[in-house]
Amino acid sequence: MSTNPVVPLLDLKPQYQSIKSEIDEAVARVIASQIFILGPEVEAFEKEIAEYCGIKYAVGCTSGSDAIVLALMALGGKPGDEVLCPSYTFFATGGAVARIGLKPVWVDIDPVTYNMCPVLTAEAAKSCKKLKAIMPVHLYGQAADMVAFEALAARLNVSVVEDAAQAIGSRDAQGVPVGVRGAIATWSFFPSKNLGGFGDAGMCTTNSAELADSMKMLRVHGSKVKYIHTVVGMNGRLDALQAAVLRVKLRHLEAWHAGRQRNAAFYDGAFAAAGASDSRTPLTSHQKGGIAMRFPYKIPAPARHIYNQYIIRVPQGMRDDLRAHLTAQKIGTEIYYPVPLHLQECFEYLGTKPGTLPHTEAASLETIALPIFPDLTPDQLRHVAERVVQYVAANSKSAVSV
Ligand SMILES: Cc1ncc(COP(=O)(O)O)c(C=O)c1O
Repeated sequence: MSTNPVVPLLDLKPQYQSIKSEIDEAVARVIASQIFILGPEVEAFEKEIAEYCGIKYAVGCTSGSDAIVLALMALGGKPGDEVLCPSYTFFATGGAVARIGLKPVWVDIDPVTYNMCPVLTAEAAKSCKKLKAIMPVHLYGQAADMVAFEALAARLNVSVVEDAAQAIGSRDAQGVPVGVRGAIATWSFFPSKNLGGFGDAGMCTTNSAELADSMKMLRVHGSKVKYIHTVVGMNGRLDALQAAVLRVKLRHLEAWHAGRQRNAAFYDGAFAAAGASDSRTPLTSHQKGGIAMRFPYKIPAPARHIYNQYIIRVPQGMRDDLRAHLTAQKIGTEIYYPVPLHLQECFEYLGTKPGTLPHTEAASLETIALPIFPDLTPDQLRHVAERVVQYVAANSKSAVSV
């Protein structure tokens, strides 16, 4: 009798096993050197990341959250300056802005891509008084509309900071790698990212020598010459152990992207065959013979989605029940992001009321992430697709608003 496979949302053990000797050798090399903070491993990793991203300078730092802080500080952000950013994102996007006293100005998303909407960004900019930067997030690994944000920033004479934490290797609709167009891009190597470290790690990239110098200084307490401090910075340095691990992993990143893309194509095909549409069709529109779920719209080539997450959308009333059903079937899922930033208690002071960002609020109630990591087996993928389709099909009639 065949048993259904267990499917975690993410399992990094097979990945480690597949590159164990390379990783162990790199870690041993750092331990033998006894150089643990910055140093040659970090410099080599910065050079390799800059090359991979097609950007001149890379500055390794403690995390993707601190990368945002460093970027905004290097751009001269002062308390009270405004930053246009999405609310439907991981907390750090807005948290890092607020941590140094800047003011997040929330912008709603495009419900098709879940990325910050350029039209609504331009609209929100009109009421800004001290706008410093526009900060789109390349959410789930699909690039935001960078041409539109670049043009808007030029018109408003502000900078674009790309929160590229989830999107290393992704390309926009014009085929330009994420991170290239912005003044600064910030990256996270949190373990669950496509390129994930063995702990916290992050990076800032830029084509400006001046900004790179500034971020290098800011990550060591604002000091260029030891014990001489021109500005107040932070302890934002990258560890050599993380850099050594990430250098090994970078060599395999393209193969892992390909695995995620293959898995996404399998889900897309299975869900389309079962009558689901992609996210261009609103959930509320009735489709004859269709089921009440949407799989992610993928912007066509030369764009490139790297699927840090694979997000489906089902009606509000169904989402949590679907999750419980999948949990009972031993399938891991996650809700990104159940409470949008503008509705978080810590941001109440900004005064953004419920209902202000309708696409963000709907997405937070309707989206759910399925396992997508490259080591999933065909059996696991099939099991996930079948269980999702079975549940959604059985519950679609009552769920779709016609
Ligand atoms: C969109 C986004 N921004 C920022 C961050 C912060 O990165 P870190 O966890 O490395 O601080 C993350 C990490 O999950 C993220 O997904």
